[in-house]
Amino acid sequence: ARKIIIDTDPGHDDAFAILFALGSPEELEVVGITTVAGNVPLPLTSLNALKVIELAKRPDVPVYAGCAAPMVRTLLTAEHIHGETGIDGAELPHPVVPLQREHAVNFMVRTLMEAPEGEITICTLGPMTNVAMAMTMEPRIIPRIREVVLMGGGFFEGGNTTPAAEFNIFVDPHAAHKVFASGVPVTMAGIDCTYTAQMTPEWLQDLRNTGSHAAVQAANLADFFRQYGSHKFPTEARPIHDACVTGYLLAPEIYDQRMCHVTVDISSPVTIGMTVVDWWGVTGNDKNCNVLRRVDADAFFALMLERIGSL
Ligand code: BDR
Ligand code: CA
Repeated sequence: ARKIIIDTDPGHDDAFAILFALGSPEELEVVGITTVAGNVPLPLTSLNALKVIELAKRPDVPVYAGCAAPMVRTLLTAEHIHGETGIDGAELPHPVVPLQREHAVNFMVRTLMEAPEGEITICTLGPMTNVAMAMTMEPRIIPRIREVVLMGGGFFEGGNTTPAAEFNIFVDPHAAHKVFASGVPVTMAGIDCTYTAQMTPEWLQDLRNTGSHAAVQAANLADFFRQYGSHKFPTEARPIHDACVTGYLLAPEIYDQRMCHVTVDISSPVTIGMTVVDWWGVTGNDKNCNVLRRVDADAFFALMLERIGSL
């Protein structure tokens, strides 16, 4: 199985991404979950990650708390989308195992230095602070990372937090800038991609019908998450952003993708946090990023149903 570290700020859609991965043990081995401040402050994202592994009956997966604030900017959170807890809407079990004592950044550095080169994939589902800090602390990890697969950014749809910027990149643009410019192979599931996989009430009913306790709680989470965005989306369907990262790791062939040069704006007050995608190759700059443009939603939701339903 492919070894991954999930770096996350749960978050309803983060919970889906994690459950989707834990429901796919043949393909994915989650060697650790690292948490970051984002949707809500760090103590809550860390608690929520513990609750999600408990829900999946996988308390053996170690959870490490990471950075409590972005590298340069002040933390911006999203309680208006995720509620005060970050995962309002479901009754998740109380964690039985505590957080690991090691800091998430130390865990990333140690794991990457110990593992064979090119073995570990890092999946980021929140602001990219921990990965950028790990690269700063120990640059020798950079060539050892197999790939960074992230949910964040977008280009054709514009931004969901400012007209130019998506939330995860906007919260810590300096971290994202560092990771995109690092030379590590990067795959970006931005909102161009995530908006093409919209979860419908019918699919959520199918998820409940699997009868799995984890699936029913996931559906409860989704019902809360779905309330946000009625002003943006014309129908009842809603994106489930972070889960697109897990979907890509399991079934890359269901995504439309293109290698492009991507950089993150960190200097303009108007467009800071924008992922600028050279879709047409007009700059001649290195193609540092595999940009996911859309996904086959039917295939994506069929796979996620099977995997979360198996928990
Ligand atoms: C991203 O922002 C967060 O609120 C979600 O968890 C997702 O990672 C979508 O823009
Ligand atoms: Ca997230």
